[in-house]
Amino acid sequence: MNICGDYEALNLMVEEALQYTKHGKVANYIPALSTANRDLLSLSIYEGESTVASAGDTFKTFTLQSISKVLALALALMDKGEDGVFSRVGMEPTGDPFNSIIKLETHSPSKPLNPMINAGALAVTNMIEGNSVDEKLGRLLSFIHELTGNSSITFNEQVAISEYNTADLNRSLAYFLKQHDVVTGNIERLLELYTKQCAIEVNCEDLAKIAYVIGNEGRHVETGRSIIPLHIARIMKTFMTTCGMYNASGEFAIKVGIPSKSGVSGAIMASVPHGPGIGIYGPSLDEKGNSIAGMKLLESLSHRYDLNIF
Ligand code: DON
Repeated sequence: MNICGDYEALNLMVEEALQYTKHGKVANYIPALSTANRDLLSLSIYEGESTVASAGDTFKTFTLQSISKVLALALALMDKGEDGVFSRVGMEPTGDPFNSIIKLETHSPSKPLNPMINAGALAVTNMIEGNSVDEKLGRLLSFIHELTGNSSITFNEQVAISEYNTADLNRSLAYFLKQHDVVTGNIERLLELYTKQCAIEVNCEDLAKIAYVIGNEGRHVETGRSIIPLHIARIMKTFMTTCGMYNASGEFAIKVGIPSKSGVSGAIMASVPHGPGIGIYGPSLDEKGNSIAGMKLLESLSHRYDLNIF
C-alpha cells in the first residue's frame, strides 16, 4: 500500500476533518493543556523504510498523555511478565470515563479493570522497575527513543508540574489502590512518575513510528530488530482495540476499526496490523476526551485505504 504517495488526498482529508474542531473543546483540567490551539490538526503516516507523509502543522509537538499508558504497559510486561502485571490489573473494558473511580469500589477485588483507565495505568506505572523516579522515567524514555529513532524526546516539565499540582483525582485513585495492596510504595513519587510519563513530548511523525512498530510485530522501523516481543505487541494492540478510546471504543471499532489510543492532549496513535502507523494531533476534544477531528480523520483514512481490521 502506498498511502504516503497519496499526498493530495491526505491534505484534503485533513482539511475536511478540520471543520469538526469547532464542535469540541481543549482539555482544561490540566491547566497547561488549556492553552492549546483548538483549530490545529496534523497527521503523519509511516509505512516503513523511512516512508513518511505528513499533513497539517507537522512540526507541532504535544504530550502523549494517555498514549503513554500503552508504552508503560509494554515496559511493565517486559519487567514483570503477564502473570505479574495481570495479578494487579484486569483485561476488561469498563464502559466508564477514563478517570472514573466507581468500579474500584463496586468490584471485588479492587483491581482496576484494565491498564488504559487512569486507575489501571497508575497500577502499571507502579510496576516499572528502577531505583528512582529518574531511573524509571529514563527507561521509558530510552524505550521511546528506540521506538522512534529520535533520542531527543523528553518530557515537558511545565505540563508535568501542572498535572502533578492538580492531580487530586488520580491521587485519590492511587491512595485507594494502595489501601487495597494493588500499588505499593510512595504515592507522591508514583504521581511524579505518572505525570512525567504523561508529559512526554513528541510530534506526529514520532507517534506514527511508534504506532508502526506496535502494528508490525514490535520490530524496529529500519533494522527489523525486535524491540517489543511479539506477544506483548499483541497485548498492546488488543487493549488499544477494546479500551483505547475509553467509553467510545465500541463505536470507534465499528466506524474506524483500527487499534488506536487517544490522549487528552488531542493525540491519537493508530496501529494498522502489518500496515501503516498513524499519528494524529488535534487538541479539540469531544465529551469523552478523544480528539474530535482526529477521529473523523481516522474514519476517512480507514474508508479510503480499507484499513478496517474487522
Ligand atoms: O491522568 C490523566 O488524566 C492524564 N494525564 C491522561 C488522561 C488521558 O489522556 C485520557 N485520554 N483521553
